[in-house]
Amino acid sequence: MRKVVIAGNWKMFKTRDEALQFIYNVNMEIPNREIVESVICAQAPLLRDLVKRQGDNLRIGAQNMHEKTEGAYTGEVSAALLENIGVQYVIIGHSERREHFQETDESVNKKLHQALRYDLRPIVCVGEPLSVREKGETDSYVERQTEKALAGLKADEMEDVIIAYEPIWAIGTGKTATPEMANDATRTIRETIGRIHDAGIADKVRILYGGSVNTENIGDLIAKEEIDGALVGGASLSSKNFLRMLAIAQEHVT
Ligand code: PGA
Repeated sequence: MRKVVIAGNWKMFKTRDEALQFIYNVNMEIPNREIVESVICAQAPLLRDLVKRQGDNLRIGAQNMHEKTEGAYTGEVSAALLENIGVQYVIIGHSERREHFQETDESVNKKLHQALRYDLRPIVCVGEPLSVREKGETDSYVERQTEKALAGLKADEMEDVIIAYEPIWAIGTGKTATPEMANDATRTIRETIGRIHDAGIADKVRILYGGSVNTENIGDLIAKEEIDGALVGGASLSSKNFLRMLAIAQEHVT
């Protein structure tokens, strides 16, 4: 049985005061991390403060990192520093980074290798734009993105990788993929991993759904057999909603 992951992606929201208030609100009520893996991914300057206050059951993630170890890359954040300050997860290849910051499948792949080198647990995002879905080409698109992201990874590294299927048309739009659509694309990703490695390895990789997940729809999404949790943007900004989603995940598991 794969452990459920609920990861909040705060994007470019929250001041330090707001972030600390959130942690204070949720800390005593996060489910046991042996049952649900709960993660908050925040802006880089907040990470150290959040790690210090994460408590026993919450874990902290970054939203991006650079592929190189160090160097003259003004404005970038290294995996080495993230690891050094106690960050344990990192989102890689979010569609907003692919769209606004020219991230490519190749840079996503390099970042993934680098994250694993520093023991960061990567949450790698894939997902199709609306035009691709309308042409009926979602499966081949997601398959290709998955293959390129995972290129060169060893079988024993795969278990540490989390993948998030995030259809671009569903992100921040209020248009969630139906549980069936999300489950189908997630299965395609798992089958792709099975072809690259083998079915036993594919079976261990957690694949999340992301795109307008909220307290109302998360239950039906994670009830699907291929979906192992959620990457949640807007709805993760409220501590009340975040806790509610974790409670639903916990009910689903127990
Ligand atoms: P959303 O964002 O939940 O606000 O749609 C999801 C994401 O971008 O990861």
